[in-house]
Amino acid sequence: KFWNVDEHHMDHSNEYILEAASLLKKQEVVAFPTETVYGLGADATSETAVERIFAAKGRPADNSLIVHLANKEQIKEVVEEIPDLAHPLIERFLPGPLTLIFKSNGSCARNVTAGLPTVAVRIPDHPVAKALLEACGLPLAAPSANRSGRPSPTSAQHVYKDLYGRVAGIVDGGATGVGLESTVLDCTGEVPVILRPGGVTKQDLEAVIGDVEVDSALDNDQSQPKSPGMKYTHYAPEAPLWLIEGNLSFFQHQIDEQQRNGKRVGVIASEEHASSLSADQVQTCGSMQDLRQVAEQLYHSLRVFDPEKIDVILCETFPKEGMGEAVMNRLSKAATQKISQP
Ligand code: TXA
Ligand code: MG
Repeated sequence: KFWNVDEHHMDHSNEYILEAASLLKKQEVVAFPTETVYGLGADATSETAVERIFAAKGRPADNSLIVHLANKEQIKEVVEEIPDLAHPLIERFLPGPLTLIFKSNGSCARNVTAGLPTVAVRIPDHPVAKALLEACGLPLAAPSANRSGRPSPTSAQHVYKDLYGRVAGIVDGGATGVGLESTVLDCTGEVPVILRPGGVTKQDLEAVIGDVEVDSALDNDQSQPKSPGMKYTHYAPEAPLWLIEGNLSFFQHQIDEQQRNGKRVGVIASEEHASSLSADQVQTCGSMQDLRQVAEQLYHSLRVFDPEKIDVILCETFPKEGMGEAVMNRLSKAATQKISQP
């Protein structure tokens, strides 16, 4: 089923939302928009329903899922306790693109947490997600609605391309806003730790609660990541993606060299640089001056070359400031190699 809804006229009594909710109550999986990326939802209390998420995505069973809730009161229903340090974060950032890790009280199905003693909770800030959560009255386990390993979907068309025929329904609520996934913050220790950079930046968090750590696995590929999902190949377009770090003439030289080898080259570059580069296809992805815009357009840019005959995608790098941290985290994972100007 494919429902086209208007996010501006949305509530939990909308007929399409009710239809989608009734499928969820029957342990089916339904894709829906959130403010970050599209999610693939299922009843988090049902092992059968959650198993269908893993099957549809082809997701490894040890990669735990985020539990989506309609409101703050529901957090208490799935966690053992909310530590003091989390209260100001909940007040300031929820609903919003921040996922918090707490000790689980065991009320979600076992396969949601993949055997971990903790549970990830998030309250999405999107009228369609909110209406659906209210209409079904269930906590919804929901990973991004892409096939495992692919870029996350920022439009219903992306979901359709990856999951058509594998899910019971897709609610189309238009393009998502943030464009990258939520920030995952482990709140089980004394100092909160960022396990995945995302929609809420480190600076945003520190302005509210002071010092925040960053999981060492994020800058060091050798160490064991704490967030199970961070160890898998991710966000990859069909053609190999190379990151190019250097000035414009170095970038153009890399393009020319690949073309001389007979390759068709796609380029992803900022508005500022795109017009100076010549390749078989050039895709702009926002302004260097506005990394939130780059985040919003990134996954779409990664998917643009899939239907084209492109042999390699060369992408420029962005400053790791603010949202640039999350942008470069995703690009580093999507890339098969990085070429830096000597
Ligand atoms: O923005 C988002 O967070 C989107 C939308 C749909 O809400 N969801 C999303 O889910 O990105 P997913 O499954 O693609 O990524 C969830 C991440 C994974 O890296 C997973 O390993 C981590 O959260 N995670 C889930 N439960 C965890 C836990 N208990 N402890 C540590 N990491 C956890
Ligand atoms: Mg994902």
